[in-house]
Amino acid sequence: MQKDSQTMPEIRFPELNVNTYKPNNPVEVTVVDNYIATLENSPNIIRHITFDVSDTELEGNVWPGQSVGIIPEGLTEPDGKPAKVRLYSVSSPGYGEDGKPHLISITVKRVIEEDLETRNLFLGLCSNYLSSLNPGDKVKMTGPSGKRFVLPENARDFNYLFFATGTGIAPYRSMLLDLYHRGFKKKAALIFGAPYRTDLLYDGLFSQLQTQHKHFHYLTSISREGTRPDGTKNYVQYQIEDASKVLQPMLHQSNTLIYICGLKGMESGVFKALAKNGYSEYLEISDRIEHLDPDQWTAEDLKKHVKPSSRLFVEVY
Ligand code: A2P
Repeated sequence: MQKDSQTMPEIRFPELNVNTYKPNNPVEVTVVDNYIATLENSPNIIRHITFDVSDTELEGNVWPGQSVGIIPEGLTEPDGKPAKVRLYSVSSPGYGEDGKPHLISITVKRVIEEDLETRNLFLGLCSNYLSSLNPGDKVKMTGPSGKRFVLPENARDFNYLFFATGTGIAPYRSMLLDLYHRGFKKKAALIFGAPYRTDLLYDGLFSQLQTQHKHFHYLTSISREGTRPDGTKNYVQYQIEDASKVLQPMLHQSNTLIYICGLKGMESGVFKALAKNGYSEYLEISDRIEHLDPDQWTAEDLKKHVKPSSRLFVEVY
């Protein structure tokens, strides 16, 4: 396919307020809602938690893609020191949850894991603290944080490919709601990876957006309910090939931006899939490995010799 020869519009990042509230001067906000966002029969518990930030500097001041910090007050780290702040991407749009600028939401997975060697149970400190909160409870919040993994100021000038795994979906709920609220008319694709269908967060919302907007594509990669024909797992990066009919025309346009959010390591797969399928303009690949088949890139190659270009943004944890 012919590549689009148009020049890319300048990506203008907004002048954002950051760290208005720091760990040493957090603001107290109130929980107004805390509901399970995964489906009833999912073994995973992921919650959509909403806070009232009325009369604070956070009200109307969180841009899509930014995070807030939570301090799990009264709890201690394993070393006995007071619990530190944890960052969570905001999943409500810039105009506020349900259109109310004083309400902001985050998306939290209850972390419950077993160490397979020691068989010890590990409970995520902050995720379990947050998941057990009730409406009316008070929480210490910091932020907003983040300047780069955000929608550009001139957001309507671009097409978007949003790759998410698990709770990495949070910033895209914010961004997509915001984009369509602002009358966004260009193309967007959300590529969401989850273990089971029951773990698809905000599935109703994204399906509805797809019905309402003919240039919005919602693609899911369910990893534990079957494999691809060659036996590989259904991971988000393979949609670049498997859904090429939808994604190729977008990827070839010079005003397309890619965002990757979720599990640490997912960016490697997306980088390889982009390079393998001829979309190297989203990456800066050093001459040292340019001749290699991307499937042969080692972790070291990826670390040292492959960087995102100015059109690709990564937030993994
Ligand atoms: P799996 O765990 O089956 O290997 P969650 O955070 O809810 O567990 O979802 C994360 C999703 O991302 C799962 O479907 C998981 O698959 C998938 N996943 C795990 N590792 C990677 C990776 N390196 N690249 C892309 N997707 C991944």
